[in-house]
Amino acid sequence: MLTREDNELLTRTGPDTPMGALFRRFWQPVALAEEVATPDEPPKRVRYMGEDFLLFRQTDGKIGLVEPRCAHRGADLYFGRNEDCGLRCVYHGWKFDADGGCVDIPNMQPGRARDNIMKSARIRSLPVREWGGQIWAWFGEPDAAPELPLVEWALVPPQNRYVSKKLQECNWAQSLEGAVDTAHFSYVHRVLSEEGTGKPVYLDKRQQWIHDDGAPTFVVEEHEAGLVMGGARKADPGETYWRISQFLTPNHSLAPGTFPGEPYAAQSWMPVDDENCWIFTVTWCPDRPISDDELDRYENGRSVHAMVDEDYVPLRNRGNEYLLDRDLQKTKLFMGITGLSEQDAAIQDSQGRIAPRDREILTPSDEGVIRFRKLMIKRARDLQIGIEPPEVQVPEAYATHSGGAVAPEGQSFVEVLKERFGDDRGRAPDLLPGAAAAE
Ligand code: FES
Ligand SMILES: [Fe+2]
Repeated sequence: MLTREDNELLTRTGPDTPMGALFRRFWQPVALAEEVATPDEPPKRVRYMGEDFLLFRQTDGKIGLVEPRCAHRGADLYFGRNEDCGLRCVYHGWKFDADGGCVDIPNMQPGRARDNIMKSARIRSLPVREWGGQIWAWFGEPDAAPELPLVEWALVPPQNRYVSKKLQECNWAQSLEGAVDTAHFSYVHRVLSEEGTGKPVYLDKRQQWIHDDGAPTFVVEEHEAGLVMGGARKADPGETYWRISQFLTPNHSLAPGTFPGEPYAAQSWMPVDDENCWIFTVTWCPDRPISDDELDRYENGRSVHAMVDEDYVPLRNRGNEYLLDRDLQKTKLFMGITGLSEQDAAIQDSQGRIAPRDREILTPSDEGVIRFRKLMIKRARDLQIGIEPPEVQVPEAYATHSGGAVAPEGQSFVEVLKERFGDDRGRAPDLLPGAAAAE
């Protein structure tokens, strides 16, 4: 449980909040690359951490993420024209490029006065990069942007990954907590039976172990970029099934299910405001393209990727109770809602727009949740007294792995990590640019 004060600290990311200040120290995924694939298309309205922006790609391919307010008299540039390398305000024709510079003032005669205004009339513009099939932005001082985090999905060829996003209608932190609490798999995602059989149906042994052991033991270890978490369940006699996830500061998580050869999965939570967030989901293979079968599952709601409309709003959402089917709940699915992503969304939304953590009763299986909160609250408090988050300085530490492992009973978590990933925290230095050449 958290005090109300700590809950406010953890959840609120507006521009004048401690957590908002911490988020603005890190590069953040803000859109899919596909959203701004074409130059000169109309600007998109976007909102991040309670602030409004416009996102567009100008004629020469450069991406702009700018404040919507025209520097002349404050008209909304959303109504403007994205033309000839800039966004032109339709009120009096002033024009701004992707860097926020004023490049034309047609309602003034040429001369020194106009030149002077053009030099000083800027709009706020954020540095942006295309990285891993996503657009990332830096919300801090433009000249102080650090290196991008070397997350694995950005280091593989485009054909090896699949990216998506969806709107989540609750606060970012409780949704992320769903990813660091891997105990919930035994319940929310449980399959009861195929219709008519009355018997549990398991896709593979993993599902059976998850079903049969609903009280996993948790071990959490720190590393340079965040936390690695292991949830251990009983497997076949003499064996333990480990589900290993990663939390990467401040808002990314790598999923625990992957066995060798299967695609990895990651999610990032970008607050829209304190009551909504974008969830960016990526699945990728380090050494092969995504297969046709995998692609089919990703595009048709049979995976961690949600089914969404053209605005990235899930088809099953708060407004239609996620198409909860009580018959299905009796017979086939523990939760009665179809789709992994939709099951997570429904149960996380159900905690409230901002979960009141002063009214919880936590158990040992909430260890990942507890450690995530502690780390984030510490980082936000430290920053208030001038201590910068150390993770920003080690972009290479974001190259980590998550996944599942079956190990002999009694083997320590660190030993399991070493055997599964060749490193005691799941670091993956072999992925980094130049690693192959250095060998
Ligand atoms: S308000 Fe934009 S050009 Fe006048
Ligand atoms: Fe889940």
